[in-house]
Amino acid sequence: MKILVVGSGGREHAIIWKLSQNPKVKKIYCAPGNTGISLMAENVDIHAEDVEGLLIFARVNNIDLTVVGPEGSLVKGIVDRFQQEGLRIFGPNKKCAQLEGSKAFAKDFMLRHHIPTARYQEYTDVEQAKKAVGMYGYPMVIKADGLAAGKGVIIAQDESEALESLNSIMVKKQFGEAGNKVVIEEFLTGTETSILCFVDGKNIIPMVSAQDYKKIYDNDEGPNTGGMGTYSPSHIYNEALEKEVEEKILQPVLNGLQTDDLDFKGILFIGLMITSTGAKVLEFNTRFGDPETQVILTRLDTDLLEIIDSILEQRLENQIIQWKKIKTVCIVLASGGYPGSYEKDKKIEGLDTQEADTFVFHAGTRFKGNDVVTYGGRVLGVTAWGSDLEEARGKAYGKINSIRFEGMQYRQDIGKVK
Ligand code: AMP
Ligand code: GLY
Repeated sequence: MKILVVGSGGREHAIIWKLSQNPKVKKIYCAPGNTGISLMAENVDIHAEDVEGLLIFARVNNIDLTVVGPEGSLVKGIVDRFQQEGLRIFGPNKKCAQLEGSKAFAKDFMLRHHIPTARYQEYTDVEQAKKAVGMYGYPMVIKADGLAAGKGVIIAQDESEALESLNSIMVKKQFGEAGNKVVIEEFLTGTETSILCFVDGKNIIPMVSAQDYKKIYDNDEGPNTGGMGTYSPSHIYNEALEKEVEEKILQPVLNGLQTDDLDFKGILFIGLMITSTGAKVLEFNTRFGDPETQVILTRLDTDLLEIIDSILEQRLENQIIQWKKIKTVCIVLASGGYPGSYEKDKKIEGLDTQEADTFVFHAGTRFKGNDVVTYGGRVLGVTAWGSDLEEARGKAYGKINSIRFEGMQYRQDIGKVK
């Protein structure tokens, strides 16, 4: 069996690491991939959003299954195009990907299907949006409607910051077309947790929980990033909460998908805020999370390809999905300057050894001659596991001690549960 994985981050490295454990998988290609991926798959120099280029590649190379990592390709309709050409592909179609591609679409879906979420209003006219400033008090949440690489959410502390943000998004088009519309919403307080689900159109099966750390610095200080680390399971996600989420969120989501004729087949990532009045949905992503995938797939006991086949054939209800009892942690090593501008091509040292219960997933890396160098904001995801979180943290931070590159920054408090 030949598989093509689309994407180039730590998420895709983790997906390939897991898929490659199935003996039926004879060859994996990754477009465009990274250095770590090139050690277990063949990198192909095609951009993740070059749908036609990927289609031709899949055709010519007789790819049996394509697995899509990033949201951009899904929102562009890669799944619809592959299906039109009779090619097997894993991920939601363009219509379903709107749950991530448009915040207003997602909020409207939640409102209509009574899924708990923050109160909101949407605006296409900047003057109207300005009139709404402060309507839910401060801090105030402003979201660019479209995709903005995780940067489209602004938490404004006061009126002047809110007005300035609206100008940047809607007039100056800081995020391009993504800012043609904005969602203004109520600020929620609580603890964030991510629940990723396998969805086959008829069933929604949650995976183990994970906790993401979005801020660049320890104690959740500084600007938002794509994610500086994760651990699984989340310490607050107990059985009672699991039951509440199942009843109040997962079931209504599934009913909503069916009622709205959204034939969702793939991964639905539900970002939750656990508030004092219950779990509320902050956002949907229609794909695996990064770096959630690194801590979730290392806990998955069942073969991933088997699950993907069950989803594509709509028989998830008969699929046994088992999880290892271990706890996992992933610490992101980022380039100096990230999430602002940063330099690339810094030589990375310390990647030659492989310690037990530890795996270094690559994100922004590439080869320069024989050296592995940095090539992105998030560079590596050092992942480790153990019977408890402290053990997993110890192994991960131990491994980090031997890795070096100029400007390297990471958080010291990932998985540190108070
Ligand atoms: P989103 O892309 O919608 O998940 O937003 C990114 C991040 O912004 C979330 O992970 C939260 O930390 C924060 N956020 C989004 N919406 C809200 C909200 N209504 N209240 C508080 N924080 C929020
Ligand atoms: N870690 C959050 C995301 O993948 O969007």
